[in-house]
Amino acid sequence: MAGPAVAVTAELPGRAVAMLDEHHAVRVHAGPMLTDEDALIDFVADADGALTVLANPISDRVLGACPNLRVVANCAVGFDNVDLDAARRRRIWVTNTPDVLTEATADLTWALILAATRRLGEAERYVRHGRFRGWALDTLLGSGIQGRQLGIVGFGRIGRAVARRAPAFGMSVAYTGPEPVADPDPPAAFLPLDELLATSLVVSLHAPFNAATRHLIDADRLRQMPDGAFLINTARGPLVDEAALVAALEAGRLGGAGLDVFEHEPAVHPGLLDRDDVVLLPHIGSATRETRAAMAELAASNLLAVLAGDDPPTPVVGPGINR
Ligand code: DGY
Repeated sequence: MAGPAVAVTAELPGRAVAMLDEHHAVRVHAGPMLTDEDALIDFVADADGALTVLANPISDRVLGACPNLRVVANCAVGFDNVDLDAARRRRIWVTNTPDVLTEATADLTWALILAATRRLGEAERYVRHGRFRGWALDTLLGSGIQGRQLGIVGFGRIGRAVARRAPAFGMSVAYTGPEPVADPDPPAAFLPLDELLATSLVVSLHAPFNAATRHLIDADRLRQMPDGAFLINTARGPLVDEAALVAALEAGRLGGAGLDVFEHEPAVHPGLLDRDDVVLLPHIGSATRETRAAMAELAASNLLAVLAGDDPPTPVVGPGINR
C-alpha cells in the first residue's frame, strides 16, 4: 500500500505488521538488530513513522537525519534508548507500550526471586553435571522468604504487580519511590531507600533508567543491605553499579542476585559469569509470546494514530505531553 512510509526496525510477532500494512508502505528490517546509528539512519531516513525496539539508539543525530519523521513508536515500556529532549525539540511523538507487559514482567521477577533465594540455577547445573547422587538433608539449602520483607524500589505498574504476588509467598512489602501511594494493595510500608535496603531480605528494582537513577544501587547502597540479602533487577542494568555488586558478592556479603538486565548489555560483567550465587537471564522480563505480540500491536496502534492525525494511546512525548 502506498502512502506515508513506515520503517519497522525489527521483525515483529502478532498482527502488528499486518495492521500497518493496511494503511502504509511498510518495510521491516530483518537480521541483526540495528544498534548502530548509521545503519539505523540508512533504514529509517525517509520514513514518516518508525516502529523501534530497545536496541535502536534513537539519538538527536538519528532524529535529525530523518526529516519526515512524525512518530517513534518504541516497542517497550522503557524509552531510555530515545533522546526525548531531541524528540520534543523536533516535535516528534514518542510512544511506549505500558500495561500489556506488566504481568509477564512481574511473573519473571518472582521467578528470579525464587531462583535466587532457592539456588535454582546452581541446582539445575548440579543435576546436569551429574553431581546429584541421592537425596540429602543439607543439599543446596536456600533462604526461606516466608515472613520476610520484599523491598520494591519504584512502585509503578510493574513494582505494584510484583507486590500483589507477595502475600502468596508470605512476604510483607515495603516500597520506595517519589511519593507514597494511596491504599497500596497489599498494604505496604513507604520507606526511604536507605531504610528499605537495611530491612529487606529481597530488594527488587522497578525504577526507570535516567540520569538520576544511574547507579542508584552503588557500593554504599549495597553495604546498607543486611548480610545474606538478595538483589533482583528486571528493570534496567545501569541502575546497579555492576562492579560494586560483584565486589559485594565476592566479599560474601550478599545472599545472591537475580539479574535479567545488565549495565553494558549484552555484555555481562565477567565477575558475574562464574558465580553460583547469581541467576542471569537475557532480558526476557516481558518475553511471552502473548505479551510480545501485544506490545508490538500497541506500538503499531500508536504509530497508526499519529500518522492518522490522532493522539496515540500511550504517548511519552508529544504536543502537551511531557513525561
Ligand atoms: C521494556 O519493555 O522496557 C523491556 O525492557 C523490554 O520488554
